[in-house]
Amino acid sequence: MKLVVNPGKKLATINKNIYGHFSEHLGRCIYEGLYVGEDSEIENIGGIRVDVLEALKKIKLPVLRWPGGCFADEYHWKDGIGPKENRKKMINTHWGGVVEDNSFGTHEFMRLCELIGCEPYINGNVGSGTVQEMSEWVEYMTFDGLSPMAQLREENGHKEPWAVKYFGVGNENWGCGGNMRPEYYADLYRRFSTYVRNYGDNKVYKIACGANNFDYNWTDVVMKIAGRFMDGLSLHYYTVPGESWQNKGSATVFSDEDYYTTLKKTLLMEEILTKHSSIMDKYDPDKRVGLLVDEWGTWYDVEEGTNPGFLYQQNTMRDALVAGINLNIFNKHADRVQMANIAQLVNVLQAIILTEGEKMILTPTYHVFDMFASHQDNTLLESQVFNKMVGTEDNQIPNVVESASVNEEGQIIITLCHTDLSTDIMMDIELLDTQVQSVTGQYVSGASSAHNTFENPDLVVKEEVKEFKILGNHIEVAMAPCSVLQLTISPKE
Ligand code: AHR
Repeated sequence: MKLVVNPGKKLATINKNIYGHFSEHLGRCIYEGLYVGEDSEIENIGGIRVDVLEALKKIKLPVLRWPGGCFADEYHWKDGIGPKENRKKMINTHWGGVVEDNSFGTHEFMRLCELIGCEPYINGNVGSGTVQEMSEWVEYMTFDGLSPMAQLREENGHKEPWAVKYFGVGNENWGCGGNMRPEYYADLYRRFSTYVRNYGDNKVYKIACGANNFDYNWTDVVMKIAGRFMDGLSLHYYTVPGESWQNKGSATVFSDEDYYTTLKKTLLMEEILTKHSSIMDKYDPDKRVGLLVDEWGTWYDVEEGTNPGFLYQQNTMRDALVAGINLNIFNKHADRVQMANIAQLVNVLQAIILTEGEKMILTPTYHVFDMFASHQDNTLLESQVFNKMVGTEDNQIPNVVESASVNEEGQIIITLCHTDLSTDIMMDIELLDTQVQSVTGQYVSGASSAHNTFENPDLVVKEEVKEFKILGNHIEVAMAPCSVLQLTISPKE
């Protein structure tokens, strides 16, 4: 199988935020997954669990979205500040009907981001909130000086303002965020975002609620009416292998047909991005407004015996392929896609980490993020793979999906997903006009349903590639069925 990379053709900067994540007050993502409270026996810093924190730092997590999701348009931020014993308790009606005690709020989230070393991406409430409430949240977080909200922040123990760059004005306002029409939302966006102020040096990157998967009309209308008031427009697309939301399919028990269906559906991301981008081009030919895929990933039936409102699912090599394919697609759309946030960080949907009490495991998707982190902030290179179609009669997909970039040191990073379940392949990688000095590589592979469990946490791990053949400007490397590979190539001076 041949891949040609042209290091002479530099296309766009790959915004590191493409490797972003999403954490919602949903199931065991925030509580248990990230935050266990200061009195927990699980090692923590200010209530944030240390094992998860270390794992997140390792993959250079660049940006984290919070507090939702659907929860964002029901969240009233003032419930989550001040002494914990005074914070309002409420029912999380959207997700599982459990008690939300608001012990994780703005201060705890900001602390989490500081500890990870990532940018916060706050999603405000349009659906059930007010302009004043949203405006005051931004003032509370970012105003440096004398103001009621800055004073309140100081009373709550944080004199210094935080830097908040990314702010979302509503979430899924076509659905759980208020069932609005695009015309209505676009006008509301203009109104709410007017009062999302820049204080001092803090310059907010304002994000409008974008479309659900194939809803191109939403993008068209919102761009037409409100495009010039926004910096980013979101987009949500989930990979749901089953026929319906009632029958989405199992995360771990599936046929080869299901596997290829899943990957075929995930590959639709290419078409979805191309079409939304071309609509945005109509109103924003200079690509000033970023497209932010701030929810993506697989969505299966929940694990048996778990709360259906918690969206807890296992994560297999199939998910590793889904992650790798999407990240390669995002890289290739780096001219327009400025952020992506897989849903969700811990214990929810396509999580990179699962926890059970004090135990934590890394999923195959985690290892893909670990390998692909080497693309962050690189320059995308032109590349083309001469692949063949594989799969079943009804689900034909390309056998290799790739992207390539160059980092500041001049090293070339290539990531490859091999989708075929039955055959090994030998990749012949040609670098145009570039002689290879040395190469290192890492990969994950396994049966499509292979996954890590709390009993067997290391069934799927990242491994080093041991054998390469280097011939001038060619590298030969083998790929196992159902595998994801990352290469770092140092060219000759
Ligand atoms: O990620 C789970 C949910 O999916 C989010 O809350 C919502 O935005 C989307 O429908």
